[in-house]
Formats: sequence, structure tokens, C-alpha cells
Amino acid sequence: MINYRIINKENLDNEISIVIKFHLEYIKGNLTILGEQFIESVYRYILIHQNGTLFLLNNEKDKVQGFLLVKPHQKFSFTNYIFNNFKSTILTILKSLISLKKIKSLLCLFKELNIKIKNLDTKEVELIAMAVDSSLHGKGVGSNLIYFASENLKKKGLISIFVRIFKNDLKIINFYSKNSFSLIQSTNYFKVFRKKI
Ligand SMILES: CC(C)(COP(=O)(O)OP(=O)(O)OC[C@H]1O[C@@H](n2cnc3c(N)ncnc32)[C@H](O)[C@@H]1OP(=O)(O)O)[C@@H](O)C(=O)NCCC(=O)NCCS
Repeated sequence: MINYRIINKENLDNEISIVIKFHLEYIKGNLTILGEQFIESVYRYILIHQNGTLFLLNNEKDKVQGFLLVKPHQKFSFTNYIFNNFKSTILTILKSLISLKKIKSLLCLFKELNIKIKNLDTKEVELIAMAVDSSLHGKGVGSNLIYFASENLKKKGLISIFVRIFKNDLKIINFYSKNSFSLIQSTNYFKVFRKKI
């Protein structure tokens, strides 16, 4: 028996730390290298200030098997983010000074988040992150999460989901293509895919 949970700004405190641990374990990338505290501040910012929604898929023992985070389409405001996360941002910048790789990673992340995506509708949401427990990969868990999130978002009047994927990540591109996402834009760093819901 599996069950779905929906987390937003009203109930995020119960599950946010589990999701951050899940992110650290299963997603390799810019946020991960910047540390747990930074990831948590970004998730909180998206859920609280950008009306994001987290979809969780739990097993019968209530253990998380996968998650998916979306937020309504809007520009990520760094001024607002830094204003709301001053301490954590300063700490992250200080920590990144120790490592050139981290500075590069931070700059790439900020650049990535601000690239303009063409022809977006206000009724679109952006898929920011998703992951499935690695012992369950290839068994349809990720596709089920996409289906559940799409149905839920459709009921709220949203019309499509888009996602940015690092352009060399062929496995991930296959996953989204299999779930009816099609390519809408390519840049130096990533490809943007969209699914009508
Ligand atoms: C991408 C991810 C969410 C897919 O979840 P999943 O439950 O394995 O996906 P499904 O079983 O529904 O779909 C399987 C399809 O996805 C693709 N795929 C991507 N990564 C895969 C993996 N590690 N193992 C198996 N299939 C994978 C394949 O095309 C596969 O199709 P096939 O079975 O015809 O070859 C999961 O692999 C994952 O958590 N990856 C690590 C985190 C990550 O990179 N997230 C995406 C960026 S936000």
C-alpha cells in the first residue's frame, strides 16, 4: 500500500527534514554541494514565499519512496531570497570561499535559475526537483509521482509543467520524454521540457 502526501506552507514543518535528507542522498548537483542548511533554506523559501508544493510518495510504513517539488512560474528573486535567508546565505558564501568548486557551483546555480524561458504561461508550474529511492529506480515510482502531481495541479486550474534538465543528463531526459514531456528550449547549460496536463 502506497500513499501520497501533499506538503505546502501550511504543513511543511512535519516533513521538511526528511525531504532534505532524501535530496542529499539521491540528487547530485549544485544544491547538494552547498550543504544541508542551504538546501533547506531554498526549499523553505520556495514553499513559503513562492507557493510551492511538495508531493511525497510513502510506503505502507510511511517511509518516503520519492518526492517531487513544483512552484508556480515566476522569476526567482534573489533580493527576496537573501532578505529572507540572510544568515544562511552569508554562511554559505563564507563556506564557499574555502572551495573554488563551491563558488563556481553557486554562480552556476544563480545563473541557471535566472535564464529566461520563452513563451511561458502564468498557469504553468516549474518542476524544481524530484527523486526516487535508488532501490526502486525503474519500477514506475517516478512516473506515478508525475501522474499524481499532474492530476492534482490540473484540478487547481494549471495547464502544464516545465522542467530544466542539464543537457548531458540522458537518463533523466529519457525519463521525462517517457512521461510525455517535449523539448521546448535549449541553452548552453540545459534543455527545457514541457508537459501539458
Ligand atoms: C529520474 C528518477 C526520478 C526516475 O524515477 P524512476 O522511478 O526510476 O522512473 P520510472 O521507473 O517511472 O521510469 C523509468 C524510466 O526513467 C528513465 N530512468 C532515468 N533514470 C533511471 C534510473 N536510474 N533507473 C532506471 N530508469 C531510469 C529510463 O528511461 C526508464 O525507462 P525504461 O525503463 O524504459 O528504460 C530517478 O531515477 C531518480 O531519482 N534519479 C536521481 C535523482 C535525479 O536525478 N532527479 C532528476 C533531476 S531533478
